[in-house]
Amino acid sequence: MAKTAVIFRSEYGSTKRYATYIGEKLQADIFTTEEAKDISSYETIVFGGGIYASGLNGSDWLKKNQEALLHKKLILFTCGISDPQDEKNVENILNGVKKSLGEELMSHAKIFFFRGAMDYKRLKLTHKGMMKVLYEMIKRKKERTTEEEGILQTQKTPMDFVDVSQGEALISYVKE
Ligand SMILES: Cc1cc2nc3c(=O)[nH]c(=O)nc-3n(C[C@H](O)[C@H](O)[C@H](O)COP(=O)(O)O)c2cc1C
Repeated sequence: MAKTAVIFRSEYGSTKRYATYIGEKLQADIFTTEEAKDISSYETIVFGGGIYASGLNGSDWLKKNQEALLHKKLILFTCGISDPQDEKNVENILNGVKKSLGEELMSHAKIFFFRGAMDYKRLKLTHKGMMKVLYEMIKRKKERTTEEEGILQTQKTPMDFVDVSQGEALISYVKE
């Protein structure tokens, strides 16, 4: 099989859990974006990042390596708190990823969507601030979607939807 690297950026560990599972199953080399400096020897790159305010975390690394990546098999996975079983959420994620990456890289990549975790108390100060703004916006709405109700819950209760077995479809795709 082609030489594969799994590269990820993870703030609180959910993306790392998926990346580690996928990387080990594929017997791939696993790197954080800080470690991944020379990718020339890899034919396949699997990249994972969390969704933050609709953007893909680590997209700066993807943009920096765009030229090389366009000549490789590229698989992206996102990790967000919203449920990717809901088509509307996937549509939102895709719009955000497109803004982060641009058309060319986006259309070259195959994308998978996984669900992450959130523990408000563990968030960095900047992230707490961002979430507070979002909570207030949602609280002011007269009608809320189930997704918004779910986000509100994270303020009081830690949520963990990580299910690494969701990575199997990606693993099969890489092996094709
Ligand atoms: C400030 C902030 C903004 C976020 N924005 C989104 C978002 O727009 N959509 C989403 O699905 N999840 C969002 N999340 C949830 C993260 O994507 C989720 O916690 C994910 O598991 C993080 O992965 P990581 O710990 O590997 O970085 C946000 C989380 C934080 C802290």
